[in-house]
Amino acid sequence: MLLPISSLLASFTLLVLADASLQQKKVKHLVFLGDSYTDQSRSHSISNGTWPGKNYQEIYPPADTSADGGVQWPWYLGLYANATIHNYAVGGAVCNNSNSALFDIPDVVHGQEDWFVEDHITGNGTAHQVLRLDPSEFVVILWIGTNDLGINNFATDDQRDGVSLADVANCQIESIRRMYSFGARRFIVNSLIPLELAPLYNGSSAPVIYWPYEHDGEAWHKRMQNFVATVNTLVKLGVKDLKEEWKGQASVEWFDTYSLFKEMYDHPENYFNGTLPPTSHNWCHRCDVPTDWHYCGIGDCVGDERDSFMWWDELHPSEQAGRVLADEIWKKINGKSHY
Ligand SMILES: *[C@@H]1O[C@H](CO)[C@@H](O)[C@H](O)[C@H]1NC(C)=O
Ligand SMILES: *[C@@H]1O[C@H](CO)[C@@H](O)[C@H](O)[C@H]1NC(C)=O
Ligand SMILES: *[C@@H]1O[C@H](CO)[C@@H](O)[C@H](O)[C@H]1NC(C)=O
Ligand SMILES: *[C@@H]1O[C@H](CO)[C@@H](O)[C@H](O)[C@H]1NC(C)=O
Ligand SMILES: *[C@@H]1O[C@H](CO)[C@@H](O)[C@H](O)[C@H]1NC(C)=O
Ligand SMILES: *[C@@H]1O[C@H](CO)[C@@H](O)[C@H](O)[C@H]1NC(C)=O
Repeated sequence: MLLPISSLLASFTLLVLADASLQQKKVKHLVFLGDSYTDQSRSHSISNGTWPGKNYQEIYPPADTSADGGVQWPWYLGLYANATIHNYAVGGAVCNNSNSALFDIPDVVHGQEDWFVEDHITGNGTAHQVLRLDPSEFVVILWIGTNDLGINNFATDDQRDGVSLADVANCQIESIRRMYSFGARRFIVNSLIPLELAPLYNGSSAPVIYWPYEHDGEAWHKRMQNFVATVNTLVKLGVKDLKEEWKGQASVEWFDTYSLFKEMYDHPENYFNGTLPPTSHNWCHRCDVPTDWHYCGIGDCVGDERDSFMWWDELHPSEQAGRVLADEIWKKINGKSHY
């Protein structure tokens, strides 16, 4: 294949950043793209009318809560890695609003990546575009798809006409390519968790706060299992393609979040260390009147009881599940995780 001179030059300068040596460089920054599983405050800031501006770094709690009821896993990963976190994830986000504008909040491939550009690139779109982070010193972690597949979307047949699971998976790979085009060279792509085991999709037809109506829980359960397995398989293949395409000039790893969460689900006693019996079937944050959120929070578990639960609520993993994830991702970054 013939390459234009400019791209030959580009690949020559990038050779110094070969895959193996990339992985040995100390991580100084961590960049997150995703949804409420990762968001530390952006969603609440937006709904509060305070649009997150340049270099926004607010972290909940204490000022407010995040979707795991406590501190989110990126904070722990930042702690373990002694790295600065740049978290662009937003609760409710999907990968591509042009495919499924669930709540029309900043999606990964446009809004969230544009925030990255705003914070870290000067001269964007010009001949003098400069990335102000050392590509060997930051890792981009993408974790998206829960809202792309879930209620008000594929799970309830509400996806846009003509959109398929292949588009959902493709968007993840394209959003990685877009970050590569900005100069990012280290990536981890988190697979979807076993959403079919989350209380919302576990087969129960009981109304819950996220869906306070009658529904066919068994059908949802089977669909989610199928959707998650399909998207995870497609994204895994896409990551393999990226590796081949980049020929060692960038590092991209697929992280098997599915298996890690399945392991926690099957052996809660090995991971959940609160003062109640460990459980992967129940959750802490109660909304026991599913038609009225004013009752949410009444009867929640408290204090050290929280770490007994795999789930914070019917859809979100707990803070302790997040600590386990952060620990394992840190191993992954260091090439020491079998997930
Ligand atoms: C919401 O906005 C108000 C007024 O701007 C501010 O005082 C408050 O801290 C904000 N709360 C959150 C959760 O962002
Ligand atoms: C953490 O990183 C900071 C800034 O790079 C550095 O000054 C400090 O020594 C590091 N701490 C540890 C425990 O490595
Ligand atoms: C970066 O530049 C491109 C091309 O000019 C433009 O479409 C995009 O909106 C810019 N992004 C930001 C965050 O300014
Ligand atoms: C987003 O969706 C639009 C509309 O389907 C599509 O044209 C575009 O290629 C998608 N972008 C990505 C990155 O998937
Ligand atoms: C499934 O979720 C429902 C709530 O939707 C809950 O009542 C039930 O205990 C859960 N069952 C299992 C096996 O996790
Ligand atoms: C559970 O273990 C984590 C470490 O994974 C620790 O930070 C936390 O304090 C423990 N929780 C309790 C209630 O002991």
